[in-house]
Amino acid sequence: MTEEKSRIGRLYGVGVGPGDPELLTLKAARILGEVPVIFVPQKANESDSLAKAIIRDVVSKSKPEIVGLVFPMSRDNELLAKHWHEAAETIWQYLSAGKDCAFVNLGDPLIYGTFIHVLETLKKSYPEVDVEVIPGVSSINAAAARGLVPLAVDDDRVAIISSSCEDKFIREVLENFDTVVFMKVNMTFDRVFDILEDLGLTEKCLYARRCTTEDEEIVRGISNLKGQKLDYFSLLIVRK
Ligand SMILES: C[S@@+](CC[C@H](N)C(=O)[O-])C[C@H]1O[C@@H](n2cnc3c(N)ncnc32)[C@H](O)[C@@H]1O
Repeated sequence: MTEEKSRIGRLYGVGVGPGDPELLTLKAARILGEVPVIFVPQKANESDSLAKAIIRDVVSKSKPEIVGLVFPMSRDNELLAKHWHEAAETIWQYLSAGKDCAFVNLGDPLIYGTFIHVLETLKKSYPEVDVEVIPGVSSINAAAARGLVPLAVDDDRVAIISSSCEDKFIREVLENFDTVVFMKVNMTFDRVFDILEDLGLTEKCLYARRCTTEDEEIVRGISNLKGQKLDYFSLLIVRK
């Protein structure tokens, strides 16, 4: 008798959009309603997450197992790698048991998504992993839509950067691109603001906080934001 090879489950990296559950794609909703296991990244000590709130309705009937995966907000690469590794091992336990699984990401999974690191780690240990990414509406698109700011027309150049980049680079990007999107702007807003002021660009900015959620805030006069403690779910669009 030949031994039957056990099936390995498929891992879906699912983009769930920026906050409004109506911005979940039909495909994301279908997959989330079908898989028996859903992984939700969360910060340490976080009992509820925005991603969980977004998917609540689409999983209400199927009642999948929801597994929280903790990723610290840290710049310590060793610590982060440890968590990516732990997450990859947990995910593999389910996949190797033949269960299809979804790993949810806010916005799109391939734009600064935790999924990218976990997938790379998983692939190193288990190259046979079967993966499909379901793109999501990014917070960048959502903020542009809520603020009615075009991201690009004609031959425009668009840059998406992390606000933690060094000053010289930020300056160069602002000088060379027509639209610049600053992600994770809460960490270094004051520093970015000073550069924008120096380049005479503060009037060309749109700040979006928790866009498409009930707590959305869209701000054009960004000088009021200087010195404030800003929300992690904040980005800045500079449209010259
Ligand atoms: C780790 S990145 C994830 C980006 C996500 N994958 C996407 O496509 O939007 C987190 C950053 O995305 C931005 N962000 C995510 N959701 C947001 C929202 N609803 N409103 C404004 N910014 C948001 C913030 O800049 C935040 O610091």
